Amino acid sequence: MGPFVREPEKEPFLRRMRLSDLGAAMEVDRRSLPKPWSERIWRDELDSPFGLYLVLEQDGRVIGQIGVRSVLDELHITTIAVLPEHRRRGHARALIGAALAAYPDARFVHLEVRPTNRTARALYASLGFRETGRRPRYYGDEDALLMTLDLSEGPFGG
Ligand SMILES: CC(C)(COP(=O)(O)OP(=O)(O)OC[C@H]1O[C@@H](n2cnc3c(N)ncnc32)[C@H](O)[C@@H]1OP(=O)(O)O)[C@@H](O)C(=O)NCCC(=O)NCCS
Repeated sequence: MGPFVREPEKEPFLRRMRLSDLGAAMEVDRRSLPKPWSERIWRDELDSPFGLYLVLEQDGRVIGQIGVRSVLDELHITTIAVLPEHRRRGHARALIGAALAAYPDARFVHLEVRPTNRTARALYASLGFRETGRRPRYYGDEDALLMTLDLSEGPFGG
């Protein structure tokens, strides 16, 4: 390696999502979710002052992402996905931990999940989320379970 050749990043690291990540983030979505967001939705979310979007980068590639929105002391996880070949290494847990750490005054974290998404439900349950409701036909073809983490009693809190 000469002095002008930059070693690629081997270890994954978290950073804020930039507009230039949009194509990569949409690719992670496309390979992860049955109904990926449109570019319009992504742009609106990245524009919003109430949102925080983080990516996990490895070797110059986006391998996962998370979005949260905050209102007072409540957070809403709007999206989370990790590329299939990078799963089961704690990346989703790290993404959620980093997003929550950005809001130290948050009390509740909410999210919607498909009842059939056993993997995601297992992830959320492992972090202390509980089922707190159901939103009929939320996904059009399926209901959503509403899951909530109370940070005053969960593993991320006191
Ligand atoms: C859900 C998803 C984000 C999890 O990402 P991940 O990086 O693989 O998750 P992690 O490695 O951080 O897993 C943390 C914990 O979640 C649970 N979990 C994750 N994947 C699991 C699986 N396939 N089966 C059972 N439990 C699982 C486990 O408790 C795991 O801890 P452990 O590995 O120590 O047992 C990923 O599977 C994904 O992108 N799925 C498609 C997109 C999606 O469904 N998003 C959620 C929409 S609501």
